[in-house]
Amino acid sequence: MFSLQNKKAVVTGGGSGIGKAISVLFAKQGAEVHIIELTEESAKTAVEEIQAIGGKVFSHACNVANQEEVLATFEKIGNINILINNAGIAHVGKVDTTPAAVFDRVMDVNVKGVYNCLFAAIPQLRLSNGGVIINMASIAAWVGIPDRFAYSTAKGAVMAMTLSVAKDYIKENIRCNSISPARVHTPFVDGFISKNYAGKEEEMFEKLSQSQPIGRMGKPDEIAALALYLCSDEAGFITGSDYPIDGGFIKLNN
Ligand SMILES: NC(=O)c1ccc[n+]([C@@H]2O[C@H](COP(=O)([O-])OP(=O)(O)OC[C@H]3O[C@@H](n4cnc5c(N)ncnc54)[C@H](O)[C@@H]3O)[C@@H](O)[C@H]2O)c1
Repeated sequence: MFSLQNKKAVVTGGGSGIGKAISVLFAKQGAEVHIIELTEESAKTAVEEIQAIGGKVFSHACNVANQEEVLATFEKIGNINILINNAGIAHVGKVDTTPAAVFDRVMDVNVKGVYNCLFAAIPQLRLSNGGVIINMASIAAWVGIPDRFAYSTAKGAVMAMTLSVAKDYIKENIRCNSISPARVHTPFVDGFISKNYAGKEEEMFEKLSQSQPIGRMGKPDEIAALALYLCSDEAGFITGSDYPIDGGFIKLNN
């Protein structure tokens, strides 16, 4: 079960955190993995980890927010079976503390970046007679996390894009789903804790852990396992759905 032999998968932001866990697991399951990262350097440890287990991996330096770069990268990769739209950035702020330039930057990466990769990937999925897309959303799209205005807005768009794509390409054998994690312990979380809560890192880490009723953050490997299931042939009946993976965050928090 859950074999990805003979599948070619693109993972955006595959050099760190959730994307790295997905890249490594997909390679273990037999996929040829193409990591899209801002720089070759950011993909380096993931590439080394995959090569160490004898997996097939390539890395591509490409900013997902730049359509020209994205199109050239997908052209180079050629026909694909799987796209994981995972690259994303965080921002802490309410609407009145989110300047336009910051709002635009979050939209450029978290929304336009997803659009750019969808735009470039559809023709390459057609060449394989279909395939699977996963967009990384967030529980922020479901409940609107306090102090995450631009981020929650962007993830709401990711969920809507998922439905739109699932409907438009269902007859072309392309399945499209999203995953909505609650807090997962990755460099993304460590980064915004140190940037926004300097001096109170431990206290904030504990607070963020306890915001999941299960009492901890998720692990990148747990998200990767769900992504593997959704991309496998065993999940052939699943499209147009969002999967919360949240330690009870959405439904058990009151
Ligand atoms: N960690 C969490 O708690 C959490 C929760 C819900 C959703 N998510 C979502 O999961 C995804 C991955 O999060 P993570 O925690 O693993 O993040 P991370 O910061 O550890 O990794 C993200 C990767 O994306 C890359 N990236 C960023 N901007 C890029 C761009 N413009 N072009 C190409 N690559 C780019 C970064 O270089 C980085 O390697 C994001 O979309 C995030 O919003 C994370």
